[in-house]
Amino acid sequence: MSDQRIYLIGAGLIAGSHAAAIRTLPEPDHVSLSVTDLNPDVLADFCKRYPHARAYADTQAMLSEPAQDSDIVIVATPPSTHAELSCSALATGRHVLCEKPLAMNQDQARQMLAVAREHNRLLGCCSVRFLHWPPAEEARRLLKERALGTIFHARFISREQRNRPGIEYQPGTTWFLSQAKSGGGTLMDRAPYEFTVLNDLFQPVCVAVLAAWLANPATALHLPLETTFDVEQQAGATLRYHLADGRSFLLSYERASATHSNPQSLIEIEGLEGTISWLWPAPTWGQSLTLTHNYDSDGLVESKTLSFAFS
Ligand SMILES: NC(=O)c1ccc[n+]([C@@H]2O[C@H](COP(=O)([O-])OP(=O)(O)OC[C@H]3O[C@@H](n4cnc5c(N)ncnc54)[C@H](O)[C@@H]3O)[C@@H](O)[C@H]2O)c1
Repeated sequence: MSDQRIYLIGAGLIAGSHAAAIRTLPEPDHVSLSVTDLNPDVLADFCKRYPHARAYADTQAMLSEPAQDSDIVIVATPPSTHAELSCSALATGRHVLCEKPLAMNQDQARQMLAVAREHNRLLGCCSVRFLHWPPAEEARRLLKERALGTIFHARFISREQRNRPGIEYQPGTTWFLSQAKSGGGTLMDRAPYEFTVLNDLFQPVCVAVLAAWLANPATALHLPLETTFDVEQQAGATLRYHLADGRSFLLSYERASATHSNPQSLIEIEGLEGTISWLWPAPTWGQSLTLTHNYDSDGLVESKTLSFAFS
């Protein structure tokens, strides 16, 4: 068999997760891994940890060999570079898996799709990472059975008191704090995962943003003086989800990577016949997840709780 070839652009933190995931594929010894990074120290460190990877000084050199039909390029660089790197990789005749957020704006995303179609290649985005987690699958089953009746409201809350990328999480990786490099703060960083799950569950034909807000709660900061910090730490919106059957409901969305409020994590879907709720998984990995289903039983509240283990 011919080997699967995977090319990593960017050898930073998330590239390590991709390299580790590749080693769990059914025939890892039949996967060849190539890698490049603008920063030679980062590249050298990656190659120490993954000595089977072939290192290249730049992307062009790495992708100069003739493409094979199954070649995949993983774009694992900061968001401001995603569109350009993905488009040039697609143009070499390779499929692309791009880290989230896919692009800085809708125009870039459309352009990336157009280039993928032009070259008849697949374009994927890592925002699908939480798509089939067990509580969401159980929610999908209950929605399909119409166990909740008509949906009239949904709520998504993920508030962390101090977990800002570039500050408390991955300190020193300052591109997270610059809008020009990241595209935005907590919203651009985490909403791609969250709306991928919500939109997949509800399959809306249209989502209207009725109101939205951004905030930057004041906190002490210990950043190097020259650091640009112009992204939001807290955000919220009221959205109307229009469904294929003509019905619609309101979704209240809120997330924070820094807040003076209490930490909270919740997805709740309210229907006329019942409500389901579960915790959004991000804060505590390895914890078991539960989904609670409340409904009426002869005038009393009946509550069923399902637990799911994950790692
Ligand atoms: N860190 C996480 O936990 C995490 C999780 C999921 C997704 N992501 C996403 O993955 C992407 C990368 O994040 P990260 O945390 O690995 O960042 P990082 O800063 O650790 O790594 C990015 C690397 O890309 C390199 N780079 C930048 N421009 C380049 C170019 N043009 N060509 C080649 N290399 C280039 C940088 O030198 C750097 O080493 C982002 O889109 C981020 O949102 C990160």
